Amino acid sequence: MVKNGEISLKNMAITSFRQQFQEPEGQPQGNKKKRGSRNSRKPETDTDLLLATAAADETDTQEESIRPHRLADYIGQKELKNVLEIAIGAAKARNESLDHLLLYGPPGLGKTTMSLILATEMGVNCKITAAPALERPRDIVGLLVNLNPGDVLFIDEIHRLSRMTEELLYPAMEDYRLDITIGKGQTARTRSIPLVKFTLVGATTRVGSLTSPLRDRFGLIQRLRFYEPDELSLIVQRTAELLQAPLTPEGAAEIARRSRGTPRIANRLLKRVRDYAQVKKIEPINQEIAAEALEIFNVDPMGLDWTDRLVLSVMIEQFNGGPVGLEAVAAATGEDTQTIEEVYEPYLLQIGYLHRTPRGRVATVAARKHLGYE
Ligand code: ADE
Repeated sequence: MVKNGEISLKNMAITSFRQQFQEPEGQPQGNKKKRGSRNSRKPETDTDLLLATAAADETDTQEESIRPHRLADYIGQKELKNVLEIAIGAAKARNESLDHLLLYGPPGLGKTTMSLILATEMGVNCKITAAPALERPRDIVGLLVNLNPGDVLFIDEIHRLSRMTEELLYPAMEDYRLDITIGKGQTARTRSIPLVKFTLVGATTRVGSLTSPLRDRFGLIQRLRFYEPDELSLIVQRTAELLQAPLTPEGAAEIARRSRGTPRIANRLLKRVRDYAQVKKIEPINQEIAAEALEIFNVDPMGLDWTDRLVLSVMIEQFNGGPVGLEAVAAATGEDTQTIEEVYEPYLLQIGYLHRTPRGRVATVAARKHLGYE
């Protein structure tokens, strides 16, 4: 159910979520009990958000079980980790809450995971929500007044907040205060409600779409970058161990190479490869079987899937390689502009298969070669 902007899961999942994350090491039992439950999970898309209701299935539980819980277990994003280690150390030494943090970057790179880790490291709870679930001002009010001192409030897709919700956040972030207007017209009055000190972690794929008053209220603004193949390889090996799926280092490297620099994709591909190896009765998963499985799942050696290839080949065949506008690519591929811009383009830009020019997008020579064009 979507309740007060927070997404609740079925009891079963709440239990496992609590067991896995809610009990930071070294925290006294009494303290643990007082805390509210962190009964939510990150919605990946709007549809997911709407359907999030009680859809806590086995996949959710498994997804949570493979997330790293501590900063020390988190592989990659070295610069981000360094910055956060200092911020956590300083906040703890001063017995203060962490500064508000804005995380930006393509989807699947670990923004939610990092937020959960921050809460664990600080010994507090993390409430997770997303901007589309905070349509009405009372949604954000409900979340804020129920926070415990120091808690982390994670808002995904923060660039999509409604204006009213965003304006409520300004004094909440700056002065830990809610300014609420009661009544209408001449009888309207403003009331100030004090809040506990908390940490807002905002996540976005479009940092440029944030209004500057909101952006300016974050003490830390950090970008998540795509992962290197060797980092992804370690992540895949770690997940395989947790899933008890025997995997050779070469098998992990093959999955990593095809994962578009993204841990969420790497872990998803690992599960598909594991299924394939199980059906073929091959153990451990080696490079050959990983490559074979991923070909079947239409993931090519550069990690491009069917839609990536469609985007590039449409540009090459219908628009002579570009420059071509985003809208034209979207119309020709049947994808929406936002998905192309936020999900597909970042990796294609990163590997040099696509350029953005003032006159539009251009498919590069490397992209032509990869797809087998002259
Ligand atoms: N699983 C997903 N992302 C991870 C990361 N960065 N480190 C370790 N395990 C992960």
